[in-house]
Amino acid sequence: MQELTRQTTPACKKQTSVLIAMPMLSLCGCEGVQSSLHPRGPHAQAIADIGWLMFGGAAAILLLVMTLALYAIYRPPAQRRTLSSHVLIAVGGLAFPVVTLSLLLGYGVTSMAKLRAHPVAQDAASIEVVGNRWWWDVHYRDADGSLMTTANEVRIPAGVPVTVVVRSDDVIHSFWVPNLTGKVDLIPGRRNHVVLHADMPGSFRGQCAEFCGAQHARMAFHVIAETPEAHAAWQQAQRAPARAPTEPEAIRGREAFISAGCVACHTVRGVGTARASGPDLTHVGSRSFIAAGTLENTRDNLADYIARSQVLKPGSGMPLYSELDEATLDAIAAYLESLE
Ligand code: CUA
Repeated sequence: MQELTRQTTPACKKQTSVLIAMPMLSLCGCEGVQSSLHPRGPHAQAIADIGWLMFGGAAAILLLVMTLALYAIYRPPAQRRTLSSHVLIAVGGLAFPVVTLSLLLGYGVTSMAKLRAHPVAQDAASIEVVGNRWWWDVHYRDADGSLMTTANEVRIPAGVPVTVVVRSDDVIHSFWVPNLTGKVDLIPGRRNHVVLHADMPGSFRGQCAEFCGAQHARMAFHVIAETPEAHAAWQQAQRAPARAPTEPEAIRGREAFISAGCVACHTVRGVGTARASGPDLTHVGSRSFIAAGTLENTRDNLADYIARSQVLKPGSGMPLYSELDEATLDAIAAYLESLE
């Protein structure tokens, strides 16, 4: 009795409530963004179903084991002895795990086969994502073979499965959009694929899920599912070369962009098409984020990133342009913002 009283001191109550609150808070913190608990397509749903089944099963087994443990501790010796019967050990310790784990394996393998089945040789199979340290190249190949490149944003039509081929030329990355599907590794020398299938239009955050160096955590991207009509219009707009700036500040920015040497690494179709070692910026103004999901795409953030790339994303391939004055930075940012 004394022990029980000790267990319910205020400090102990506080500890218990913290233990209960922490997992609850972590669940609330997801709010559906980049969360596999909020599936938004059939593939993510299948993965969530496996997760909930395993969670439910594990919780039931934990409850059963704890009940048996309490029974073994607190019941009188005569009753406890029933737990050591050979039948119970054979059923509970051997037959039950063998049957349960076999069923789970069968369910997992069947679900995996469904996830791996992918429609090949349709138009959408022409999307290719290449992982770089630390950003994503996204290529769209048309039926006639023409190529269009964008970065850090994968746009797909909603309501249909879309196969995306993924590869890497440097280190292993992993492509993961929890709301839509599971992880797939980008392995140098291999071409893997993943099927993206969103039920409804929406924007889904993705993240590199394999440690790939200093800025692994800032290697995010967005998958944007849109109606087939909106997607076709977007593709057509993206295939066009960069629009010429009309605003005086953006015109100055275009000159500065060329003279500062930005075109040596960034392709802006219609301005410079050197082999781009950095993201294609032809329509950068149409994207929601810059620097692979690091910053929202605003004029201030564009200027800030050009001036302080090695502070905001140390180790990235983007050199520092701290020698550019504020007016020039603003002009370049205005120009990039106009590239819709
Ligand atoms: Cu790329 Cu982690």
